[in-house]
Amino acid sequence: MRGQQVLILGGASAIAEQVARLLASRGAALYLTGRDQARLEKIAADLRVRGASRVVIEPLELTDIAAVGGVVGRAQESLDGLDTLLIAAGVLPEQERASAEPALLREGLEINASVPMLVLEEAARLFEQKGRGQLVAIGSVAGDRGRATNYAYGAAKGALEIFLSGLRQRLSRRGVKVLLVKPGFVDTPMTVEFKKGPLWASPERVAQDIVRAMERGRAVIYTPWWWRWIMLIIRHIPEPIFVRLRF
Ligand SMILES: NC(=O)c1ccc[n+]([C@@H]2O[C@H](COP(=O)([O-])OP(=O)(O)OC[C@H]3O[C@@H](n4cnc5c(N)ncnc54)[C@H](OP(=O)(O)O)[C@@H]3O)[C@@H](O)[C@H]2O)c1
Repeated sequence: MRGQQVLILGGASAIAEQVARLLASRGAALYLTGRDQARLEKIAADLRVRGASRVVIEPLELTDIAAVGGVVGRAQESLDGLDTLLIAAGVLPEQERASAEPALLREGLEINASVPMLVLEEAARLFEQKGRGQLVAIGSVAGDRGRATNYAYGAAKGALEIFLSGLRQRLSRRGVKVLLVKPGFVDTPMTVEFKKGPLWASPERVAQDIVRAMERGRAVIYTPWWWRWIMLIIRHIPEPIFVRLRF
């Protein structure tokens, strides 16, 4: 993965920042998008010190579809090439509010699913032409089964999983890898209000799993690993029992 040229959508996300640090130490060139320019500049300066061959930032609001279109081309031009896309941006709408406020429900679907899909398609076209590249998106264990407390979020992440599955099949003979990352609970600004417990992981830990999976060309990972087994059980609970559970 030395000398990789990487576009990160949501470059200021806590998980993405840790991934970017690992990639920078391998000499990657990075194109980071985000809403907070000052924060992106700070991250970029740090990544240069850590060994990134180049870091470019682009302030980008993901609900601005017109601005999102062409981001892959802009990254490719700025870095003189592009071989990896990582989608890390996401929102976690509070379920009760998302149920009551259509705008919030729509924003969750946009940021967690439809905007990532548009950008994935744009990068897929480019990588398909080149016959190489890697598409990486951060989904969630919440996408494995709808729960009363977060089904708006889970539905978007589940849709992203189906989309990536199809994309992976389409690109499998074109030299393009497609990785879906499914984290469990990660201690980041997104979950700052949550009570933490033994199942929680740090963004550093999750980033290590992500970069290892990228290097190995994996298709789907749970991170940390124990979520694979937790979700296997949760997915197999019969619906009549599942509807009675509260967790
Ligand atoms: N933390 C967890 O427990 C957990 C678990 C499973 C999956 N994930 C997923 O992991 C990914 C990274 O999340 P994180 O935990 O690292 O949280 P985070 O630090 O809060 O990162 C979320 C990022 O999404 C960006 N974003 C949100 N709405 C945006 C918009 N309209 N336009 C542009 N950027 C926008 C945020 O930008 P701003 O900085 O400008 O707000 C932020 O950088 C997300 O896809 C999340 O769903 C997280």
